[in-house]
Amino acid sequence: MSKINIFDTTLRDGEQTPNVSLNINDKLTIAKQLQKLSVDVIEAGFPIASEGDFEAVKAIAQNIEGPVIVGLARAVKNDISRAWEAIKYSKKPRIHVFIATSDLHMKYKLKMEPDEVLKEAVEMVTYARSLCPSIEFSPEDATRTRPEFLYKVVEAVIDAGADVVNIPDTVGYTTPSEYGALIKGIKDNVPNINKAIISVHCHNDLGLAVANSLAAIENGAQQVECAVNGLGERAGNAALEEIVMAIKTRSDCFNCETGIITEEITRTSKLVSHITGMQVQNNKAVVGANAFAHESGIHQHGVLNCRETYEIMTPESVGLKKSLIVLGKHSGRHAFIERIEELGYKNLSKEKIDEIFKEFKDLADKKKHVSDEDIESLVKNEIFQVPEVFNLKYYQVSTGNAVMSTSTVEIEYNGKSIKEASCGDGPVDATFKAIEKAIGIDVTLNDYFIKSVGYGKDALGEATVKVEKEGKVFSAKGVSTDIVEASGKAFINAMNKIHYENSLKKAAEC
Ligand code: KIV
Ligand code: ZN
Repeated sequence: MSKINIFDTTLRDGEQTPNVSLNINDKLTIAKQLQKLSVDVIEAGFPIASEGDFEAVKAIAQNIEGPVIVGLARAVKNDISRAWEAIKYSKKPRIHVFIATSDLHMKYKLKMEPDEVLKEAVEMVTYARSLCPSIEFSPEDATRTRPEFLYKVVEAVIDAGADVVNIPDTVGYTTPSEYGALIKGIKDNVPNINKAIISVHCHNDLGLAVANSLAAIENGAQQVECAVNGLGERAGNAALEEIVMAIKTRSDCFNCETGIITEEITRTSKLVSHITGMQVQNNKAVVGANAFAHESGIHQHGVLNCRETYEIMTPESVGLKKSLIVLGKHSGRHAFIERIEELGYKNLSKEKIDEIFKEFKDLADKKKHVSDEDIESLVKNEIFQVPEVFNLKYYQVSTGNAVMSTSTVEIEYNGKSIKEASCGDGPVDATFKAIEKAIGIDVTLNDYFIKSVGYGKDALGEATVKVEKEGKVFSAKGVSTDIVEASGKAFINAMNKIHYENSLKKAAEC
């Protein structure tokens, strides 16, 4: 069986998801989990795009061993030099150079003739290769590029030193048979193709990203670019978990394998969803909440008699485990620590465990059974917390369907307590406005949603807010059995993130 390399672009194309913005800690945390998942390649970011992204790529190159670490660059000298400066700390660095090759992009975006694009691609790959031992080249919008021109560019960049050639379906336009034929065409028409790995990169505009990637594998692609939970520009990229589980479950069709530790898939998906604030739909393949749930009696009966009747993969194979012992208010610290370790949160500091255990006890006073989902939510909220300079001490709302909602909040800041009140369009809006007034930071609320964690009327409410400040989006969560409190906590956490980012900036300037 041949090996397919999994190139994860969650931290680059995935970060280009509208309303998603990751700071250096977020990126490093996700990169560590990608390392556990055992991806072959991590595209860590686009270093020229911002100072923050440069630092994040550099931190990943310095701290993550195992996968190849990639920095993206346009076919421009400055981009390439900057990418190299960020990734050079990695034991396995790679620069990913791209330039568009379709007539449409060359004429209207680049305003360049095909010969000029070809020359630029060769010169920039040569330059990148003079810095870095591994170069990936992407002819952007490859699937709408004239095949003869595509073959010519691919051959020339391989001669110039590219060891990976990626064929992006930039706008998610192609179909499985067409894309498979294009990959075969490259193999048949590019004389030096054996000197490079063929990679594929599919977007999901027509919902075909995974199918197209798999068709490419059937036709000789050796690397697949994908993102956790299918994040990415517009409709996203091919979903990593779907590609990996399709290859594993149907190895009889694809005759290949990946090196992914599939038992880490669920944890990775939840982590990325938590940090990006991008919810996973319940019926999403492999990682959706319903992916292994059987509703109809006939299905339940079948699965109880023989799992394979309605399950083509086991929940355990993607790391989903149901614990038999339910924790509640009589559960002790020992059982609690054991459970959080089973859930994958090992080596937490004593202080963190104390804090989470206290929250667990508070929650257990409010609801009889505390589910694994509840516990995970408490753990994540604690461990991904930036320093809490603002703290919601108290709030009170008055609301109704015939009155204007008002909210009074008390915020603790640097040992001082600040009280403010505000009216609003409902209790949550009033609370957000009161918090904004108290803290004195104006933000634009881009997104807000609340979902229940676990089941039942006493389920925890998990609120997500995305606020924008000076063009940057900050996503944060809050949990409570009370939805107004969960929302207020999420909003305060977003304010804490803004404060933290500003303090990092100030420290860097000094
Ligand atoms: O979709 C695309 O074409 C890209 C390239 C930069 C590879 O993301
Ligand atoms: Zn892309």
